[in-house]
Amino acid sequence: GKLLRPALVLLSAGMVEKRERAPEHALLRLATAVELIHSASLVHDDIIDGEPLRRGEPTLNRRYGDHTAVLVGDLLYARSFALLTSLELPRWEQHREIFHLFCETTQAMCLGEIREQQVLESGSRVGFEEYLNILRNKTAVLMSACCRGAAIACAAAPQLAATLAEFGLSFGMAFQLLDDAADRDAPVENGWDLRAAAQAHLERAHGLLAGLAAGPSRTELEAACELILAAAAP
Ligand code: FPP
Ligand code: MG
Repeated sequence: GKLLRPALVLLSAGMVEKRERAPEHALLRLATAVELIHSASLVHDDIIDGEPLRRGEPTLNRRYGDHTAVLVGDLLYARSFALLTSLELPRWEQHREIFHLFCETTQAMCLGEIREQQVLESGSRVGFEEYLNILRNKTAVLMSACCRGAAIACAAAPQLAATLAEFGLSFGMAFQLLDDAADRDAPVENGWDLRAAAQAHLERAHGLLAGLAAGPSRTELEAACELILAAAAP
């Protein structure tokens, strides 16, 4: 994997003034936890989709069967939440906020995936707004939580936390739109230009960054926008 979500955590933390920084070990645990949540969701997604391959390797469901793969996904998910309880942040409220954030996030991911399954199983296609809502839940909300979670861990000002969360949301929308455009499997009505929609989200993400302090982390976040665009080039 590209470890995009841990990168979002660490780079978002880099956007917060140094004096407010969380301890390094807390950020690394948070970065690890988000990758584990993502991995758990992919293990379950591959079972649902009946995928034989992920990143060029046989999937867990292919290798060990669906039953074991479900349990491995659950294990990864449990490990991620165990890590979230061990961040050792300065204030208890930060723990509560981060835990609440990731509970809401994984709930949204499940709801997005459930809705997508309903649509796929009905053999129908949804309108663009509903399609975007599915993407928001299944993908963008986690990327947003990576950015907001880092901001909370670093005790960022509420306005900066909100801007970083919005950046993650637009970044995540663009990411999944580009993925769907490449896979050509989106259950959305015909006639919508997914790449153009992704571009619009990336421009919004760039615009949000432009309002924040310049520096190496902002440059890297801008580069991440270019990276997902280049990786999805037709
Ligand atoms: C990939 O979609 C799947 C997701 C982005 C989210 C999957 C979410 C769940 C299974 C629910 C949440 C579960 C846990 C354990 C938190 P895709 O099939 O479009 O992408 P792909 O081409 O990479 O498979
Ligand atoms: Mg899939």
